[in-house]
Amino acid sequence: MWFFFSPNIIYGPDSIDFIENISGDKCFIITDKIIKELGYLKILTDVLDKFGKTYEVFDDVLPDPRAEGVLKAREQCLKYSPDIILALGGGSVMDTAKVVWCLYEFPEFSLDDIHAFRSDLYDMGKKAKMVAIPTTSGTGAETTFVTVISRYEEDIWKKYLYLHRGLIPTYAIVDPIFPMGMPSELTIDTAFDILAHSIEGIGSLWKNEFSNALALKAIELVFKYLPIAYKDGKNQEARDFLHQAATIAGLAFGNSQVHIGHTLGHSWGAIYHVHHGKSVGILLKYVTQFIINDPDKDDAIKIYAKLAKQLGWVSWGEGDKKAAEKVIEKLIDLQKEVNSPMSLKETGVSREDFEKDLDSLVNLCYQDASSVLTPRSTNGEQFKKLFQYAYEGKDVDF
Ligand SMILES: [Fe+2]
Repeated sequence: MWFFFSPNIIYGPDSIDFIENISGDKCFIITDKIIKELGYLKILTDVLDKFGKTYEVFDDVLPDPRAEGVLKAREQCLKYSPDIILALGGGSVMDTAKVVWCLYEFPEFSLDDIHAFRSDLYDMGKKAKMVAIPTTSGTGAETTFVTVISRYEEDIWKKYLYLHRGLIPTYAIVDPIFPMGMPSELTIDTAFDILAHSIEGIGSLWKNEFSNALALKAIELVFKYLPIAYKDGKNQEARDFLHQAATIAGLAFGNSQVHIGHTLGHSWGAIYHVHHGKSVGILLKYVTQFIINDPDKDDAIKIYAKLAKQLGWVSWGEGDKKAAEKVIEKLIDLQKEVNSPMSLKETGVSREDFEKDLDSLVNLCYQDASSVLTPRSTNGEQFKKLFQYAYEGKDVDF
């Protein structure tokens, strides 16, 4: 037995109007101040006004959402007692909303009650439907059951995963009106997050035929449309397809999971507060090299060779090792084409800080569940070397 879980997905221009068809009148909107300032909240509330739905707004979600913020939103949600919970924003907003939704459905729960091994959480949605409306094209959080919430413990911010398949939103509305205004740097960082979800997802130990097919399509779309959106951020077709790619990759990795690129990226983000997509985007090349270099088995070589062949990057007759290495070459070419950073050093972290924090970075890796699904098991020394190689921008040769 295996699983493929998905929200109901409505996508393309004007998909926001689907809200008319969702039963219930009282909407609790979870968002952040930037979304409000950008005018996106007004786009949503205008739609709600048009369809005669009432609403209350929580707009205090912060990047890397913290437990305190989630509990504050839960408090307001419980008081308001909505029929629909609307998440309008990026990964932080959607993660917050999923946890708030769960704590609203089960008001007796604390955060630690949310875990993968309880059957009652499959019964989400009795009090409210959850609608995720991504405003960036990257996280895929509108499709997934994993949330990342930070807690301050033992003098350090730690990222906790709260997860259950019941946390998948009821609906994902993927309307390109929202990412149209994304600045160039964010467009690149989020697109590399899509690639990290897809390329790690194809290698994950939980990969399956559903997730593989979707990951392949998402990679194809990013390689086609990121250069176009990079040159012309207002290109509607590129924005629409990158937005779809993020959701498609979300379905892929939501059902296969990612692995050590995200493990290392979560550690980097936790300590230096570097954008998630930038961190995992930089690390993707290094972790892919690492798993291709596995001295004990050639599974990863076969997987990435097939990927390169399916995408037409090499001929079907090409040898597997060379074909797998083409994936690395294509990643580098794309990074160069869109001026994306290629080493962790370029995220602005000084060598002094990096060396001081290296042990903490590695320790955080042990606390990240993503690491268990890597096709090449990774020890502390290897985590350390991966950080060092990625910091220097050096090809992984171990
Ligand atoms: Fe990610």
